[in-house]
Amino acid sequence: MKYVIGIDLGTSAVKILLVNQKGEVSNEVSKEYPLVIEKSGYSEQDPEEWVEKTREGLAELISDFPGDVKDIEGISFSGQMHGLVLVDESHQVLRNAILWNDTRTTKQCQEIYETMGRDRLLQITKNPALEGFTLPKILWVQENEPEIFSRASTFMLPKDYLRFRMTGKVHMEYSDAAGTLMLNVAKRQWSREILNSFHLTAEFCPELIESHELVGSITSEFSQRTGLSQETKVFAGGADNACGAIGSGILSEGRTLCSIGTSGVVLSYEERSDLDFEGKVHYFNHGEQNSFYTMGVTLAAGYSLSWYKDTFAKEESFQQFLTGIEEVPAGSNGLVFTPYIVGERTPHADSTIRGSFIGIDASHERKHFSRAVLEGITFSLNESIEVFRNSGKTIDTIISIGGGAKNETWLQMQADIFNSTIEKLASEQGPGMGAAMLAAFGCGWYPTLKECAKEFISVSKTYEPIPENVETYKKVFAVYQEIYNQTREMNERLREFRK
Ligand code: XUL
Repeated sequence: MKYVIGIDLGTSAVKILLVNQKGEVSNEVSKEYPLVIEKSGYSEQDPEEWVEKTREGLAELISDFPGDVKDIEGISFSGQMHGLVLVDESHQVLRNAILWNDTRTTKQCQEIYETMGRDRLLQITKNPALEGFTLPKILWVQENEPEIFSRASTFMLPKDYLRFRMTGKVHMEYSDAAGTLMLNVAKRQWSREILNSFHLTAEFCPELIESHELVGSITSEFSQRTGLSQETKVFAGGADNACGAIGSGILSEGRTLCSIGTSGVVLSYEERSDLDFEGKVHYFNHGEQNSFYTMGVTLAAGYSLSWYKDTFAKEESFQQFLTGIEEVPAGSNGLVFTPYIVGERTPHADSTIRGSFIGIDASHERKHFSRAVLEGITFSLNESIEVFRNSGKTIDTIISIGGGAKNETWLQMQADIFNSTIEKLASEQGPGMGAAMLAAFGCGWYPTLKECAKEFISVSKTYEPIPENVETYKKVFAVYQEIYNQTREMNERLREFRK
């Protein structure tokens, strides 16, 4: 039996999957690492931790491996997006990596708009200037740490740095480069115009390659420290959202992913590169060659539910806590929740907005509030789906993964609110599986990623929309959509009271 390894370099841990030729996970290792939070709004990590924990994890996986290590044919990666790793001429790291969830760069985002113009930036990068993206972080270092910046010879994204340490080769692939705000997404090349505007040179940006492309092999040092064979082929990999999509089979038009973790993501496959979403949702290159995906993000999806449970019933399990929500009719008897408890990202990029319960009635019990929270999270994701549909996209099948796929009532609710078939996967492995699939495809096990997905991924259950509920939700969603504009100004006035 042959194997591949998928390494998912996340924000809190690296998860390593050993996957066999049938797509079965034979072993799995996870190693955590800390965030460095120097000040409120800052979020950094030491790249050496990523390397060290990946080494430890791989060594553990290999020591448990019963076969010949040469049977592990390929390795690929999934990575947290946008994080800035700056290195000098000899590829020594110059400072901690500044991560995707670091929000110190509001001023730099404004500078980007002033220099480029919002429309021109959207034309080239297909995305707005958000604090989390890489270019604002580069400008922050340029402005605040000029001595460090003067020594920077190139930059990498988190998984690209890890791959460099495993192979000695520096590259970046399109799906992650799309989140830097320096890539011309449609043309798939670094934008000279953007680089020139911010005094950056072409040499500062790594060579671009495809996600399934062979980068090289494991260095002898890394092989000695982990037990991996030097013959194992290393493939480029992809951004975590692209890999999450590949690992859930989002590889053809109409297929969409709803992934509810702390934050929630709806992500839809897109063949075309010329659509215009006005920056309301993200538009990135996929990990499949010459394809794209659009993506909406609800900042507090699962987090709204865990905040609500921990605040009002800390000692209960989620299962206990959600008992009874199936008895509450669609629309929670007129109670509506907006999940803006930490601000919002799409379609309203707004760090000041906060959540509400609207329509509280003396007849409402706890189960109405609980159902309203789940409905509010789902409405928020539906706003992004509406943006996709309004641009002419067909959304007919949505694969649901994460916390949202763990509760039958919530799965049916997604079918009813999204007005789409919902599919639940038999085995859900997330971005690590997408990384393993890129390695399997790169090794030539399958002629296309789609063929690989047919073998590796299967659906265990589907949920169809119930017409009566769809009608109810259309009306309640119309009310939900008004709440943002109606509460925006009030929340601005309330900001000074937040401690
Ligand atoms: C995507 C984003 C996050 C990170 C998490 O734009 O910021 O999903 O990729 O790792």
